[in-house]
Amino acid sequence: MSVKIQSSNKVANTSNEALLQLVKKNHKWEELGFDKEAIAYIKGQLKKEKNLISMGALGAVHVLALDLGEKDAIKRRENFRKLGANFCALVNGAGLDTARIIDHTDSETDWYDIAEGLSLANYQFIKYRKDAKKELNSLEALAIQGKHASDKAIHKLNCVVDSVFWARDLVNEPVITLDALRLAAEAELRGKEAGIKVEVLNKTKLEALKFGGLLAVNSGSQTPPTFTIMEYKPKKAVNKKPIVLVGKGVVYDTGGLSLKPTAGMDTMKCDMAGAAAVMAAIYGAANMELPVHVVALIPATDNRPGEMAYTPGDVITMYNGLTVEVLNTDAEGRMILADALSYAGKYDPEVVMDFATLTGAAAAAIGQYGIVCMGTADEKVKAGMKQSGDNVYERLVEFPFWEEYKELLKSDIADLKNIGGPVGGAITAGKFLEHFTSYPWMHFDIAGPAYIKANDSYRGKNGTGSAVRFLIDYLENRTK
Ligand code: BES
Ligand code: MN
Ligand code: ZN
Repeated sequence: MSVKIQSSNKVANTSNEALLQLVKKNHKWEELGFDKEAIAYIKGQLKKEKNLISMGALGAVHVLALDLGEKDAIKRRENFRKLGANFCALVNGAGLDTARIIDHTDSETDWYDIAEGLSLANYQFIKYRKDAKKELNSLEALAIQGKHASDKAIHKLNCVVDSVFWARDLVNEPVITLDALRLAAEAELRGKEAGIKVEVLNKTKLEALKFGGLLAVNSGSQTPPTFTIMEYKPKKAVNKKPIVLVGKGVVYDTGGLSLKPTAGMDTMKCDMAGAAAVMAAIYGAANMELPVHVVALIPATDNRPGEMAYTPGDVITMYNGLTVEVLNTDAEGRMILADALSYAGKYDPEVVMDFATLTGAAAAAIGQYGIVCMGTADEKVKAGMKQSGDNVYERLVEFPFWEEYKELLKSDIADLKNIGGPVGGAITAGKFLEHFTSYPWMHFDIAGPAYIKANDSYRGKNGTGSAVRFLIDYLENRTK
């Protein structure tokens, strides 16, 4: 259930709403109208160092969110998001449709983080269940009152939550309803709504342009591939050259003829999570009217065995003319991204950032707890990206990108092969992509965090919308 977030004065008080008051742990409790007994209770609870105190009022939910004085900004922000998610469970548990946050502190971020955690935790994907009506979360509206809860900040929060929800919906939708054509149609629909220019290159066009990598991966499919170009170019953009985002849009990855075992395939509707992230991020940037010129490129297809499927041993001529010896059709993401990265060169970009559920190796290395990254952007740019990762707790882990890894991609008969050796799988995938770049570039492998099987606070479970908040934060900071 999406949450409509508004300034408190726009939402009439009802007796039946949930209330969260954000306070410092040495707050003057009398000011909140608590009697002696209640204050004694609060003081007792404070000793337990819990940051969420339930006031146990009859009827509606009433809690105190406490600033326990965490100084590490990254941890602090994450704690408050998680607190918001816990509050969300209380509100829905009580069947309430409205929550109100009253911030009594001076912090610029605490209230925002609580509201973000609360709103993101309210996500559900239950439309295919017959008990959907019964199971639907009751929370629909969030009212916020506080010194820093400006209309602008609240608008941003609405945009961020909308974007994350859209990305999650796209990832959770199975391939039977979300194939490459539907993915492109979704981009057109939302793009139009947000004032983004959207162009979809169809199969005929891709053949004429010789998108060899994308067409090869698509050759086992009954559904044509698409290449979607989204461009958001506001009049007052701060950047002369665009930031180009590229997202892997493998709407389903069976592995192709190098077929995956069932256990490795069952979550592979998530293999377009990179596409979902860049689509949702440019959509969010446009809704926020950020003065930054952004382009998103989304190569999309399913990867299946089929009569005409590309085969191990094939040599494919890519969009930029390089030849690739395919030794594993399951290394398909890099084939479609390569063409998109070459195409990105046309924009003379300031920087290109690609997002992909690219390798099991990235997921094995750091799990769901962060985003693996690597690339050729300069250190200052990388530092800005790492800062954004910390801001939203989508932390970046930079992998080595040494030349030696490139050696592992040498082929006897073509310019390179599409797999490396048994080591450094996430890195050799990145090194493969590097062949197709000619500008400052960063690669983000979200195979670990994009899709998770157990509930993780405000990230929920299944599609998480990984990298959307990271990207919006990065784009927003670029305008400052
Ligand atoms: N989509 C997968 C990677 C993946 C694995 C994403 C697990 C999310 C969770 C990708 O296309 C793939 O199959 N990669 C292979 C590459 C290998 C054949 C070189 C892999 O990681 O095993
Ligand atoms: Mn694959
Ligand atoms: Zn894949």
